[in-house]
Amino acid sequence: MNNPIIIAIDGYSSSGKSTISRYLASEIGYRYIDSGAMYRAVTLYALRAGLIDAAGNINVEALTAALPSIHIDFKVNPGGKQSTMLNGEDVEAEIRRLEVAEHVSPVAAIPAVRHALVARQQAMGAEKGIVMDGRDIGTTVFPHAEMKVFITAAPEERARRRMAELEAKGEHATYEEVLHNVNERDHIDRTRAESPLRQAPDAVLLDNTHMAFEEQNQFMLDLFHKITRG
Ligand code: CDP
Repeated sequence: MNNPIIIAIDGYSSSGKSTISRYLASEIGYRYIDSGAMYRAVTLYALRAGLIDAAGNINVEALTAALPSIHIDFKVNPGGKQSTMLNGEDVEAEIRRLEVAEHVSPVAAIPAVRHALVARQQAMGAEKGIVMDGRDIGTTVFPHAEMKVFITAAPEERARRRMAELEAKGEHATYEEVLHNVNERDHIDRTRAESPLRQAPDAVLLDNTHMAFEEQNQFMLDLFHKITRG
């Protein structure tokens, strides 16, 4: 086998990053790490601890003080599905709820939160052989990743995908609510001071608005083989 590499997948919310990343990781036998799940888990912790008020204000000082006692990990379940673990509890379902999505971008904009999670992500990639998806993986977490892809799709298409995902989980939201959340998170992610969402200069752009799954999966595999076979 070739030497393992680091694969950084960044892009907009609901662009299908995690589906693409999970597929690629399983095809090539790499570990998949969902960095967004880590920001969602911190957000869930803050909500449960009452550190976010009804108006959405975050008690940054208290959350910063709590960071050393927030432990996030991933458990691989039988069958290969992963669960996000927050201090030993499986919170996979809870972190995908709209309530968490509504607060995650402001939480992820807090520098202390980013520093703590980026350090943890870098440690997870120390041995390479990983696919990590997020917003700043190719720019900040692994600026030297051997393979970088930046994924985007039209906001309306992303909102449709997110709706379908929420509906499949029995959560009801209107298309307008979901589109609003998608646009809002894009805006916060792009404009925050600390490692904003942007395409790394050496990342390959993939716009999958009109792409079928098979087509984009093949694109990723071809790129991986091209990079690792030289
Ligand atoms: O799945 P979806 O694309 O909706 O988002 P996610 O990957 O679960 O990430 C949730 C939120 O976490 C994003 O909207 C960002 O605000 C934040 N995030 C980040 O700031 N940096 C990352 N590396 C990953 C996520």
